[in-house]
Amino acid sequence: MKVVLFGSTGLLGKRLYKILEENNFSILAPTREDVDLQDHHLLENYLKSLNFDILINAAACTNTDYCEDHKEECLKVNWLSPLIMSKIAKDKGAIFIHYSTDYVFDGSKDEYFEEDAKSPLSVYGLSKSYAEDSIIKEGGSYYIIRTSLLYDEGGKNFLSIIPEKILSNEEIICTYDLKSAPTFVPYLAEATIKLLNSNAPFGIYHISGGYPATPCEFIRIYEEVMGKNANVKEVSAAQLNRRAKRPKNSFLNSFKFTTLVGFKPYPIEHYARRIYERLYKKQDRSS
Ligand SMILES: NC(=O)c1ccc[n+]([C@@H]2O[C@H](COP(=O)([O-])OP(=O)(O)OC[C@H]3O[C@@H](n4cnc5c(N)ncnc54)[C@H](OP(=O)(O)O)[C@@H]3O)[C@@H](O)[C@H]2O)c1
Repeated sequence: MKVVLFGSTGLLGKRLYKILEENNFSILAPTREDVDLQDHHLLENYLKSLNFDILINAAACTNTDYCEDHKEECLKVNWLSPLIMSKIAKDKGAIFIHYSTDYVFDGSKDEYFEEDAKSPLSVYGLSKSYAEDSIIKEGGSYYIIRTSLLYDEGGKNFLSIIPEKILSNEEIICTYDLKSAPTFVPYLAEATIKLLNSNAPFGIYHISGGYPATPCEFIRIYEEVMGKNANVKEVSAAQLNRRAKRPKNSFLNSFKFTTLVGFKPYPIEHYARRIYERLYKKQDRSS
């Protein structure tokens, strides 16, 4: 099976590339240097020139605060590019997999299901919501995967580097009033392959970490796993005074995916322990 993967240099894209390779897909992974997703003419010509069975879009302008001040770029990359991708995938009879976000919701509910009404609070959320609407309107064979607060082992993502900060007693500033479903990227990448192989009906799926947590609660989990106290400064989202508004509670309920595909995430403790043990335990002289 031939796959075209956009966003292979990103947090999710790197893992997707790896798992696609492990599953013997033939992968073409254009980077920003090959196709800048702000150049729609180039994108269209590029995709039209290829033959593929599956098109995966893990590329996006993901800096929520940056998007507030760069609306045109954000809409071009996050909305209009996936629209072009979905049209061409449909013309070629290919499956289109596109990632979306919990930020399409306003956070006023306790949890969100696939069919809940959207009401984004930010330019980023709006751009992702427009993309969903356009892909659905276009029809074709698509999976829109909404996910939430990604973290991986390694790299610079906030939730992955917490053990390092705990070990060095560095102050960690975290929000106590933004609850979501932190999602371990290797789980999401594997879940994507399982969805693809499942014959589940096309449409929108929530694939998240499955357990609600604020960033501060996540740090408490690391404290338990490591048996150490973190130097934590708990703040409200309002205190951070960031450009973009975030939903207070954007927990994505993944019941539809887990029941149809039968692949559930482990509790957060499992992944926190894995990250600590694989990356930081050797540095921890007290353990
Ligand atoms: N991160 C999260 O917490 C989170 C939460 C919910 C949903 N999501 C969604 O999950 C998906 C993957 O997110 P991620 O965190 O893996 O993203 P990421 O790490 O920020 O990576 C974004 C990718 O998009 C590429 N890209 C951005 N602008 C581009 C452009 N103009 N032309 C070509 N490529 C461009 C980047 O290329 P460069 O390396 O060249 O910049 C990179 O490969 C996205 O759809 C995102 O909206 C993420």
